[in-house]
Amino acid sequence: MRWLLGVTAVFYRLKVRATGTWSRRGVSGLSRALVYEKHGDPAASLGLENLKLPDLGATGVHVKMLAAPINPSDLNMIQGTYALLPDLPAVGGNEGVGQVLKVGSKVTRLRPGDWVIPADAGLGTWRTEVVAQEDLLLKVPSDIPIESAATLGVNPCTAYRMLLDFEALTPGDSVIQNAANSGVGQAVIQIARAMGIRTINVVRDRPDIQTLMDRLTLLGADHVIPEEMLRKPEMKDLFRSVPKPRLALNCVGGKSTTEMLRHLEHGGTMVTYGGMSKQPVTVPVSALIFNDVTLRGFWVTQWKRDHALNKEAMNEMIASLCTLIRQGKMTPPACKQTPLEEYRVAVEESMKPFSSSKQILVM
Ligand SMILES: NC(=O)c1ccc[n+]([C@@H]2O[C@H](COP(=O)([O-])OP(=O)(O)OC[C@H]3O[C@@H](n4cnc5c(N)ncnc54)[C@H](OP(=O)(O)O)[C@@H]3O)[C@@H](O)[C@H]2O)c1
Repeated sequence: MRWLLGVTAVFYRLKVRATGTWSRRGVSGLSRALVYEKHGDPAASLGLENLKLPDLGATGVHVKMLAAPINPSDLNMIQGTYALLPDLPAVGGNEGVGQVLKVGSKVTRLRPGDWVIPADAGLGTWRTEVVAQEDLLLKVPSDIPIESAATLGVNPCTAYRMLLDFEALTPGDSVIQNAANSGVGQAVIQIARAMGIRTINVVRDRPDIQTLMDRLTLLGADHVIPEEMLRKPEMKDLFRSVPKPRLALNCVGGKSTTEMLRHLEHGGTMVTYGGMSKQPVTVPVSALIFNDVTLRGFWVTQWKRDHALNKEAMNEMIASLCTLIRQGKMTPPACKQTPLEEYRVAVEESMKPFSSSKQILVM
């Protein structure tokens, strides 16, 4: 899909694979980028390279990247298992925040100094600098924490849309979600809390589960439960203090999802947006017959494309999320910053289970 890496395609490569030292570091007109030439293990497939920046032209925007997270979909793209696969070689990373350095003469919405995030997947954000067309970038306020800006465009947007677009929830209603400690899950907890919606948060058991439960409770989670509890009679006690959920958000698949479905309110909706266990979704027959549940899916990339011409919807979402951030109602996900040069450690860390921490590359 050539369009996907429109930005990368206009780059031409200077030196092949660097080996850890950077002889041309700081040379103007060059960007250092994490490039992969074939699909495979992410840490092994990526290499730092010097890429020459294309001319700015009248409609180009020259951006210095500041920070970019490592998300599961970035890794899946490198592994070759994601729904969108760019032409290779490609630069890794689909979201992040950068600062505008220079704009072409016909650029109207952006000015030097502005902070920007990608408007779509495929920008290749794991690099120091990029020249992109204006319509591939969205302006975000520069008075929010850099970790919030770097992680704003995918997970909080996904959480926001899923809470708003599938069920007409009102204060007091409840939502159940698995992988509640994920980036999306943390955003769901905080946005739901701001909307007056109660959350039942399912996490995988681990030796220090109480620490995780406390952390999610501090974020605003009403209930945090280990996955095993979904199968226990104690769930009846829980539903004495909170209404049965009208919305279930599924990021896992397999048993976790099947059990979660059993607790959905009659006529409720389950939205699947991730498949971290790599297991299919198995629906209990009773959930369909006696509870008439609806199964839906959501992909934020598709939503952004469907709304590319409707800037109002996108601007409203970004503005609402930034208001929550400024009000201290939405914090960035628990994260660890790593310099771009040390990407290998960050990529390996991001693939470990039970880490509960997002890796953010800083440039
Ligand atoms: N459809 C969309 O538009 C959309 C948008 C954003 C994200 N996503 C998807 O949502 C998922 C989460 O993304 P994120 O950035 O929020 O992730 P993240 O912050 O990296 O968190 C990953 C989550 O997955 C859990 N997990 C990992 N391996 C698992 C397994 N084998 N079984 C069950 N749970 C497992 C982790 O729990 P532990 O702590 O227990 O390991 C953690 O909660 C990904 O699949 C991503 O692609 C989809």
